[in-house]
Amino acid sequence: MAAKIFITLLIAVTSLSEAATFKNPILDVNAPDPYIYHHTDGYYYWAKTIQPTKDGIEVRRSRILSNWRDAEVQPVFHVSAPYGALWAPEIHYIDNSWYIYFALETNSDNANHRMYVIKGNSSNALGNYGPMVKLVPSDSDIWAIDGTVLRYGNGKLYFIWSGWPTLSAGFPQNLYIAPMSDPMTISGPRVLIREPLEGWERNGAPLNEGPQVIQNNGKTFLIFSASGSWTADYCLGIIRIERLLDPLVVDNWIQDTHECIFSRNDAQSVYGTGHASFTSSPDGTQTWIIYHAMEKIDGGWENRTARAERISWNAEGAPVLPKPSGFSIALEAPSGE
Ligand SMILES: *[C@@H]1O[C@H](CO)[C@@H](O)[C@H](O)[C@H]1NC(C)=O
Ligand SMILES: *[C@@H]1O[C@H](CO)[C@@H](O)[C@H](O)[C@H]1NC(C)=O
Repeated sequence: MAAKIFITLLIAVTSLSEAATFKNPILDVNAPDPYIYHHTDGYYYWAKTIQPTKDGIEVRRSRILSNWRDAEVQPVFHVSAPYGALWAPEIHYIDNSWYIYFALETNSDNANHRMYVIKGNSSNALGNYGPMVKLVPSDSDIWAIDGTVLRYGNGKLYFIWSGWPTLSAGFPQNLYIAPMSDPMTISGPRVLIREPLEGWERNGAPLNEGPQVIQNNGKTFLIFSASGSWTADYCLGIIRIERLLDPLVVDNWIQDTHECIFSRNDAQSVYGTGHASFTSSPDGTQTWIIYHAMEKIDGGWENRTARAERISWNAEGAPVLPKPSGFSIALEAPSGE
């Protein structure tokens, strides 16, 4: 009897220590701009551009955050000419419906990238979606990518994206915000909230993109990617807004940190760290960053893999990001996996 209990314990301890670590990446294929959402059904959902054609979206579903190799996957959306170059889809669950936001180009011209959304017509995120709808502010129809939705403390929805100042500007890529009347409609003009004016956000090109909302203790933070995504110096920056101040007023956005808060780790072959999203551990006790990076300094757009790391919080409730880990480093698995 005692021996049996001992063996049972030994098995339990062994499997616990095996399950307790993982190594990045979380998926072995090219997976830029990873946005992972932890739903109330216990699954993580990840809407990803179909690679390498970039002509559609596939949705993955997994109960495990740190390993997506065996996750269920379902293509849910396709485009054909004149549409193409579908970038950075994000899956959101808003007021009991699924939405996927993405940027799409027309006529093979990058200057024609605009934001679109599709709405799921059932409770199944891997099911059918309705026709795509263009998201455009009331005052301008200018280059737009990397749109995300902020549900603010006042209950209202806002759209935040990376855009050009004029129709054919190319650069800089600024961050803009506009109000939404519902998850498929921008209901006002765009407001500029951030321009890449400092050295750390101008490597390769002056560029802010991939805005992501992270809220903690009633505070709202906007983490964004800075510098050229094709460079090893692509990194994350942060701004914040105090509770319930109007996010459509640029001066309400505060910048405390004038440098990257998450960047390359040459000693472990991690380059071009950016385009992050944030989610919780399976048991909800930890916050994790999901981001892409390159293993080689010159990896380029076709060699960006998705990785996960646990983040922490400082005394003011702001996120504290770790130094990104290389593929050989065993990390503690998300709590509850
Ligand atoms: C769901 O969307 C698909 C694709 O647009 C469509 O064919 C189907 O009729 C829709 N179903 C419902 C119940 O609306
Ligand atoms: C990047 O990926 C492409 C396509 O898979 C490959 O041909 C190329 O060698 C890779 N480059 C580097 C530096 O890894």
